[in-house]
Amino acid sequence: MAALKILVIPGSLRTGSHNARLAAAAADQLAQAGAEVTRISLGDFPLPIYDGDLQTKSGVPKHAINLKRMMSAHHGVLLVSPEYNSSVPPLVKNAIDWVSRVQDAHETRGQVFRERVFAIAAASENRLGGARCLAALRLILAACHAMVIPNQLALAFAGEAYDDMDRLKHPADIETLDALVRQLVDVSQRMM
Ligand SMILES: Cc1cc2nc3c(=O)[nH]c(=O)nc-3n(C[C@H](O)[C@H](O)[C@H](O)COP(=O)(O)O)c2cc1C
Repeated sequence: MAALKILVIPGSLRTGSHNARLAAAAADQLAQAGAEVTRISLGDFPLPIYDGDLQTKSGVPKHAINLKRMMSAHHGVLLVSPEYNSSVPPLVKNAIDWVSRVQDAHETRGQVFRERVFAIAAASENRLGGARCLAALRLILAACHAMVIPNQLALAFAGEAYDDMDRLKHPADIETLDALVRQLVDVSQRMM
């Protein structure tokens, strides 16, 4: 059987990002669960803010096409996003918007969302852990007809959530990430 491939996308480019750190911890867990994991940075796929005129004039930017193809090469995608003003940051929303406009040969537009499994997580220094961003992100992905697994992680007090080895240290967080990873692997395997 082919290896299960999971793509992990942190939704922040910030140095010392809590979400990049959580994405790294989740990637480790996924690898331990047997998945072949690719962790990318959206900084390698720079995109202008979506503008219909720009798309009409120049087409979908190559970085959006590359990001879509990167997603297509994996069975599942884990998005780990910060919360900005109770919602999804522009970096993440804009990437989704552009990818949803990509139409590769022999595909319908947005097929990449419909044919793979998504999981979502967030990290924040506050006590809600970015839970409102997750609600908004779930809605956006639903609009793209993506299958988003029910398990998710909103990591609260993210600055104090790790031990010296960069592993989550609170049992509740460990358990929640574990459940997310198991479900993402399970559901992705069933859709392979
Ligand atoms: C414009 C802006 C809005 C923010 N709004 C929220 C918010 O609604 N909820 C929250 O938990 N944190 C909020 N924050 C704090 C971010 O969650 C925090 O900066 C976080 O560390 C960003 O993620 P990162 O560490 O992965 O870069 C906001 C930050 C910015 C810059």
